[in-house]
Amino acid sequence: MFEPEKFIERQVDKVKGTIGEGKAVIAVSGGVDSTVCAVLTHRAVGDRLVAVFIDDGLMREGEAEQVMNFFEARNMNARRVDAADEFFDALKGIVDPEEKRKAFRNTFYGVLARVVREENANCLVQGTIAADVAETVKGIKTQHNILEQIGIDPGSYGLTIVEPLREIYKPEVREVARSLEVPAEFSERPPFPGPGLATRVLGEVTPERVEIERRATKIVEEETSDVESFQSMAVLMNDRATGIREGKRAYGYIIVVRLVESKDAITAEAVNVPWEVLKRIGKRITTEIPEVVHVLYSLTDKPPATIEFQ
Ligand code: XMP
Repeated sequence: MFEPEKFIERQVDKVKGTIGEGKAVIAVSGGVDSTVCAVLTHRAVGDRLVAVFIDDGLMREGEAEQVMNFFEARNMNARRVDAADEFFDALKGIVDPEEKRKAFRNTFYGVLARVVREENANCLVQGTIAADVAETVKGIKTQHNILEQIGIDPGSYGLTIVEPLREIYKPEVREVARSLEVPAEFSERPPFPGPGLATRVLGEVTPERVEIERRATKIVEEETSDVESFQSMAVLMNDRATGIREGKRAYGYIIVVRLVESKDAITAEAVNVPWEVLKRIGKRITTEIPEVVHVLYSLTDKPPATIEFQ
């Protein structure tokens, strides 16, 4: 039986021991993992932790404000860093999914390293959980927040890495969140990939294409809020389809809607979404986003698919 209170106590002690009198930085995204990690570390070292929200331009609508409001309400040291231009520059022209992850990761750590230097911090806290480690070791995907496993020596960044959630999986992380009185909008938040909407834009990640993806994501999330799922998403394809706009042929974008059920993200099953809901999503996307002319639903479980498209 997992006991969140005991886990918190143990990790707070351990984090105190590791950070000592030093200063720590954590990059927060609004996801349950980094939120829990930040709150837990704050409990251990108070204001010697700075929570940094790196605005990469790849977040969902309103996400940055929501995250900053949470940390400010808890009186934690929090900083927002606007780095969208840097991320879009790094992603320019890249279509290969793993290359995109690498570009994202390099930019992410570049920005973070800068913040760490500015803050004079010697520790970096990360919300890595057991599933991240497992999937990266197996070589399925390169998760952006794994350093050692992919041969990057944190020491070369001059940093001690602190990962209090490394041993536990998502359901336990949520238990810890509830125990730390993190509000449900964060503790029950569906997983969202580190590289954000870039994972859901097939082909080149440009500000214009991310904006289409962001609007489609909002519609899918709104229309499926009552449908039980582990994750609910829109994905922008790299191809175009023939459609009709204003009575004329138009080559428009294609959006795939995907909802999956899963316990641990290791396997997943496509959700049987009511047809009326799917039709409403399709109608809203093609009406509210004129660049999109075709909407599809993804039927494939994991494996052989993965949850994200890339
Ligand atoms: P896949 O697509 O591998 O996703 O079936 C498994 C779970 O991990 C999330 N995911 C990521 N999370 N950085 C993350 O922090 C990433 O690069 C990344 N890629 C996928 C995905 O949303 C799902 O919950």
